[in-house]
Amino acid sequence: MFMFKEGQKWYRNEEVADSYDQERFTQGGVVLDKKERETLLSLVEPDGKKVLDIATGTGRFARTLSDNGGDVVGIDASREMLRGGEAEYVQGDALRLPFKNKGFDVAVSMRFLHLLEEEQIIGFIEEVARVTKNKFVFESLHPMSLRIFYQWILPQDSHLYSNSLLQKKFDQVDAVMKVKKEEKFAVPYGLYQRLPKDLAEEVSLVDDELVDRHTGPASTVYWELYFE
Ligand SMILES: C[S@@+](CC[C@H](N)C(=O)[O-])C[C@H]1O[C@@H](n2cnc3c(N)ncnc32)[C@H](O)[C@@H]1O
Repeated sequence: MFMFKEGQKWYRNEEVADSYDQERFTQGGVVLDKKERETLLSLVEPDGKKVLDIATGTGRFARTLSDNGGDVVGIDASREMLRGGEAEYVQGDALRLPFKNKGFDVAVSMRFLHLLEEEQIIGFIEEVARVTKNKFVFESLHPMSLRIFYQWILPQDSHLYSNSLLQKKFDQVDAVMKVKKEEKFAVPYGLYQRLPKDLAEEVSLVDDELVDRHTGPASTVYWELYFE
């Protein structure tokens, strides 16, 4: 039996860490993984930049950023999740980053914000702004999305923050000069990873169409914060 419910502790369990990629990024999850990587690369140009991947997990984004010319450091609180490969990896806390001021050009953090408690968000952004010169790219999960139907059965806590709540938090961080956001994935992640790959490819086309037509809030919001 798994011991942890709390989102931040969940990934310190060896069984959870060992099955992370297998459970999410095989079958239809391959399509999801590719879409997520492409989305990140549409928002970040890593070539020649010093990039920090916060809550890097098994390093799938750190590897992508490195493959595209970034000099990448991945940090994660869970030693069990860190798998190594194609970047430098550090075990550590996103809320107290063990790096000097402005040592990175860009920071990214995928599938992480929902693990933070609301009262941790401002401190987290301030900490990222301390170590990052230009820009921070990350995602949030939208409360008005299909995710609310299965959210409650997930074994780990996960917070769905509205865009307006997050915008208010960002407004309180002095270093944030500009905020941009882009909605993606009308279909929540959980569905992709349960489908066979062929079907997931079809769903992906419908998904893009739904997002393009703004049929409602997408399940995922990609944010770009620009620092002074
Ligand atoms: C859902 S996984 C995402 C991993 C990776 N970014 C991805 O998208 O595949 C969330 C990660 O956040 C890490 N994490 C949770 N709390 C953290 C903290 N306070 N500092 C650093 N990493 C943390 C977990 O260990 C886990 O690897």
